Formats: sequence, C-alpha cells, structure tokens
Amino acid sequence: MTVPMTDLPAWEALAAHHATMRERTIAGLFDAEGDGRTAAMTHEAAGLTVDLSKHLATRETLGLLVDLATQRELGDAIAAMFAGDRINVTEDRSVLHVALRMPRDRSLVVDGVDVVAEVHEVLDRMSAFAERVRDGDHTGHSGRPIRNVVNIGIGGSDLGPAMAADALNADVRRDLTLRFVSNVDATDLVEKTRGLDPAETLVIVSSKTFGTLETLTNARSARAWLLDGLGLSGPDADAAIAKHFVAVSTNEDRVRDFGIDPSNMFGFWDWVGGRYSVDSAIGLSLMIGIGPEAFRSFLAGFHAMDEHLRSAPFERNVPVLMALLGVWYRNLSGAQTRAVLPYDQALRRFPAYLQQLEMESNGKRVLLDGSPAPYGTSPIVWGEPGTNGQHAFFQLLHQGTELVPADLIGFLRSRNPVGEHHDLLTANLIAQAEALAFGRTEQQLRDAGVPEHQIPHRVTPGNRPTTLILAEALDPATLGALIALYEHATFVQGVVWGIDSFDQWGVELGKILADAIVPELQGEDAPTLSHDPSTNAAILRYRRAHGRRV
Ligand code: F6P
Repeated sequence: MTVPMTDLPAWEALAAHHATMRERTIAGLFDAEGDGRTAAMTHEAAGLTVDLSKHLATRETLGLLVDLATQRELGDAIAAMFAGDRINVTEDRSVLHVALRMPRDRSLVVDGVDVVAEVHEVLDRMSAFAERVRDGDHTGHSGRPIRNVVNIGIGGSDLGPAMAADALNADVRRDLTLRFVSNVDATDLVEKTRGLDPAETLVIVSSKTFGTLETLTNARSARAWLLDGLGLSGPDADAAIAKHFVAVSTNEDRVRDFGIDPSNMFGFWDWVGGRYSVDSAIGLSLMIGIGPEAFRSFLAGFHAMDEHLRSAPFERNVPVLMALLGVWYRNLSGAQTRAVLPYDQALRRFPAYLQQLEMESNGKRVLLDGSPAPYGTSPIVWGEPGTNGQHAFFQLLHQGTELVPADLIGFLRSRNPVGEHHDLLTANLIAQAEALAFGRTEQQLRDAGVPEHQIPHRVTPGNRPTTLILAEALDPATLGALIALYEHATFVQGVVWGIDSFDQWGVELGKILADAIVPELQGEDAPTLSHDPSTNAAILRYRRAHGRRV
C-alpha cells in the first residue's frame, strides 16, 4: 500500500506552516531576514549556483519540506535507484541512467552484469565511429566525406540530442550539419533534408524499441530519399545503406528486419528510459557533432550532479530542494504550471525537453499501488528563452491572476560574445527576477508621476517566486549538470508524490487507436466505422477529401 504524501505526519506540520505564510511576501521575507537570506538559500552543485532566496519560503519552510522527504524515505529511494533496484514497478525495471555517466573505473553489478563496463564498451564503439566520421575515414558510398548527420527519432530519441545539439552548437564542428527529424508529418523530413547532399549524409535511426510508427515511417522515407538521390537500387543500394545508415536501439532483431546490419547498431538497455537517454548511444549524433572528448565532458557534468544528489545533505541538495519547492507550490499554493525561462538562445529547446522529462514522468493520476492520487502531480511545464518571452507572455507572469513559479537560467559568459549583447541579456535576466519578486507599488508609481487613472493598471504586485540558476558558461559539462539537475528533481518529486516516474502508459491508447484508424482512412472500400459520431465524421471527411468511398 502506498501512503499518500498528505497522510504523512510531516504534511500536517507543513500545511499549518503554509497557513502562516499566506500573508507573507517575498519582499517581507527579505526585510525580516536581511542580507543573510540570499547567502543561506543559495547553493552550489556541479558548477551551478542556485539561488532559492526569491521564493515564498523561509528556511523553516525548507526544513519542513525536508522532513516530508525524509518521512517519504527519500534517502532509501535514491540508494535504491543507484543500486539498480526495480523502482519502475509497473514495468518491473531498474532505472539506471546514472550508470550511463559513471567513470570507467566504477562498477555497478546488476543481475550479475557490470553495467558500467557495458556502458563504456558502447561509448568506446561510439567514440571510434564518431572519430572515423569526423576524420573522413567513414565516407559515404561514393567515397565522399560525411558532412550531414540526420537523426531520426521521436520523444526521448529526439528531444535530448536535438536540444543538446542546439545548446552546444558552439562546440559543433563547423563543417558538420546536424538535423533532427521526428514528426510523422512528412514536412519535417522534407524540410530537414532540403539542401542536403545524400552522398554526404549519414542517417542515424534512433529508437529504443525500433517499433515507433513515426520513426520507422521517417526512416523508410529517408532511405528512399537517399537511394533516389544516389540513383541506386539492388545490391548497390544495400551497400549504400550500410555506409549511410546506422541504428541506435535496444532491439537488434527489429534493426536487422529494417535492413540495418547489427554491426552498424549502437545498443543501450531497457533500464534507460527514453526521456533519460540523451547520455546513452541516443546521443550519437551529438557526439559526432561535438566530438567524443566533449561528449565525455558532457557525461562528467551529469556525473558530478549525480554525486551531489547522492552525497549532499537534503538541506543543501539542489535537486531535492527544487523538487520540494515544486511540491510546495503545486500542492499547497495551488500552482498548476511552472515556467522555464533560459536566458540563452541556445537553450531554446530546453523547455520542450523538460516537458517530456517532467510531464511524461510525473503526469500520473495514481500512486504506486494503483490507488488514486489524492493531490495534483506534475505541473504543466512550459517556457521560452528570454528575452523573447518578455515580449510575449511575461505580462501574465507580472500581472496575471495565476501563480506561476519560474526557473530563470543564465550564464556569466556568452559562447558568442559580440559587442554588449551579453551584458544586455544578463541585465534583463537579473531585472526580471527582481521585478517578479518585488514588483512596483502604487506609491512608487505616484512618486514617478504616473497619472492616477493608470495606477491600478501599472501596479506590479511582485511576490512571484523564481529560482535563479547561474553558471559560468553553457559548455558540455554544464549542460550535463543542468539536465541531471532536472532529472533528479523530477525523480525526487515522484518519490514524494508516491508515483511511478518511469512508466508512460498514458501514451499507449492514442497509438492503439491511430493504428486502427490508419486502415480506415486508407482502405478502398467504404469502412464500417464503430467509433463515436464525432470520430466517425472526421474519418469520413478525410476519406471524402481523398476521393475514397464512404
Ligand atoms: O510515446 C512515448 C515514447 O514511448 C517515449 O517515452 C519515447 O521516448 C518515445 O516514445 C520514442 O520511443 P522509441 O525510442 O522506442 O522510438
């Protein structure tokens, strides 16, 4: 039986404390606690400095939240994950993405197998292949060097490498073009292959299961695009596929069935969840782009955060504190969403990446034992890079009726230092955190000569909580640490809520229904439809548009 979080004794103390916090403001907390507040609520982890002082929380709040985590036996849960226990209970699987970034000299034996040794074996194969592509030793069928890498995958087999390739674009070798195709909408493939020379293109088909409709459809069309472009068929076509196609998967049989030789496959394991897989062979496209050495530094960043999770006391443990503040706002203050606002254009895909990480992990309605969750779980995660978001939805953040806690992420140095751009970007980052927390009062507006009729419209109440994450620069190690920070915060929240953060059954039904609807859209004969009237009508409308019998 899973005890709901709200039945733990710590919850009662936390709820009572929350009632005393209702009238307090962030500005009031700073007044009361003085300069020491920021120092006491700012923590370092794996090269990231995380300032939690602009939260609607005191050190007592954090202490009570830590009590909740302790009563949820978070320490044991962390140890169980690192030990390879089957904490993904509904799929009866270990959850070992932390093994993907353990150094070579570590060992982690699960079911009699040293998984760290296996991880490094694959990493070494990936590195050798990436070097051969980068050095021009692995060429296309006609002997031309590879200049373009197209990763075909979706969800975790796309979002991680696509986000990271953007984020680390400054490290991607200039003569290599990386593209990411995910949507089953052919527009994605057509647009992403436009202008690429097939003779210089390597396609990486990335799919944990190698059974995903979108990926297999795109991979088939990419094969046709490549062979058409090269003007090849028959045995020559097979030889070309061997040079231009590699697979990343856990399913060797399906890779072979698709027509890719398993010697051109890079494997991973069922204990790597799709949304936790960017640091596995799923990152092959990224590794080719930035080089194996930079990829290892990326992994080292993850590992540094893993060690922080494992060793820092909860009171100073950044992923734990961020997770617990998320619970505070979600379950006590009623926040339904959280914004992620990276002040770095290279992190433009980071909010989308976190949407899968957090919402696929923790968007759950039942506890581990299957009983209904008597409280909200994952918030809706969304965001855009600053400063763009400021000119779009920040109005709501400052003056809207919703409580939207936000993560602001910035870097002290730009990877593209041009003129004064970075000073201006950073000034905006710091200003937004200040404005959100402290706002602008009626009196301040009056003193500034604002006409009386405008005053209510121009008051910004402040009191909007933010986490400020600052790091030196967006380099591979920092990105690894940042991703691991959110992976672990997501895990910790799942533990506190008492849910399975590692399954994703909610995506199953839509796939089953789509499989059934495909023949109903395509068949020659008028179909016998047994859906609801609205679904039937949409199917018939599509058939009519294509001149098919109805
Ligand atoms: O539909 C959801 C999902 O299963 C994700 O969890 C996963 O990342 C994605 O599909 C892709 O799956 P695969 O890597 O097996 O193609």
